[in-house]
Amino acid sequence: MGDHDNKIALVTGGAQGIGKGIVDVLSSEGAQVCIADISEEHGIKAVSEIEKLGRKAIYVQANFENSAEPKKVIEECVNRLGNINILVNNVGIQPSTSYKNVEETSEEVWDAIININLKSYFLMSKYSIPFMRRNGEGAIVNIASVQGLQSQKLVPPYAASKGAVLSLTRQMSLDYIKENIRINAICPGTINTPMVTNSISGNINESLKLFGKDIPIGRVGEPKEIGQVASFLCSDKASFISGEYIIVDGGIMAKGGWDTELQGE
Ligand SMILES: NC(=O)c1ccc[n+]([C@@H]2O[C@H](COP(=O)([O-])OP(=O)(O)OC[C@H]3O[C@@H](n4cnc5c(N)ncnc54)[C@H](O)[C@@H]3O)[C@@H](O)[C@H]2O)c1
Repeated sequence: MGDHDNKIALVTGGAQGIGKGIVDVLSSEGAQVCIADISEEHGIKAVSEIEKLGRKAIYVQANFENSAEPKKVIEECVNRLGNINILVNNVGIQPSTSYKNVEETSEEVWDAIININLKSYFLMSKYSIPFMRRNGEGAIVNIASVQGLQSQKLVPPYAASKGAVLSLTRQMSLDYIKENIRINAICPGTINTPMVTNSISGNINESLKLFGKDIPIGRVGEPKEIGQVASFLCSDKASFISGEYIIVDGGIMAKGGWDTELQGE
């Protein structure tokens, strides 16, 4: 018996990284999973890995920068798998070329990040909630970031998108809680995914080790560690939790700016 037996789950950006970690955990808990992702290569690979384990998954190609995609993706998921019980809005981009202050950020980059990281979450929720209502229950998990709570230099659209995801989560939860549709968020810290490793120019393992030194637990996180929390939030074990976010960051947000390495030693 798994936590998600007989459930259909859709994960945006589920072909790689955190999304793939979420797909793997939901699948191991019994869900049939729809992976909606721009990368056909990685989407098909992820599906075949799940099928090899004797479980069911499908891949739907989607570019979430385009606002016409969410409705089509939900329709394809329901047509092919019969329903949607769980939605994980995970897709997100933070291109290294976008690291600029507000004056230097182009409107095109702003729109691309906001459309993918925020607007797709709104539209995917909008079109999946009618099916959840029909089921009499549902769960949505939005992947935000610790950057929705604190910030860093040169990330205006990313920071704005992640703060807005937390606010949207809180707001939507109030509109749908009476219908037993729970909506929560996760704020990951630094996780070992292509988003992080593609931004490393030198040795990846050495750089990840270095990043880990700044994190109280002493290492970066793995996608599965976000998957486990997403799976919990979507399960009946979290039946009284809605409008909440969980920080999953190896302790980084617990640490005050004054707690330098020097003082900690
Ligand atoms: N990795 C981290 O350290 C970290 C930390 C905090 C929050 N997050 C958030 O977690 C989520 C996942 O991040 P990740 O690190 O796994 O990213 P990633 O870049 O490693 O993987 C993203 C996945 O989304 C897909 N994708 C990218 N653009 C797309 C588009 N336009 N349409 C459809 N699919 C698209 C990619 O093909 C890939 O499968 C994002 O929302 C990100 O902001 C990541």
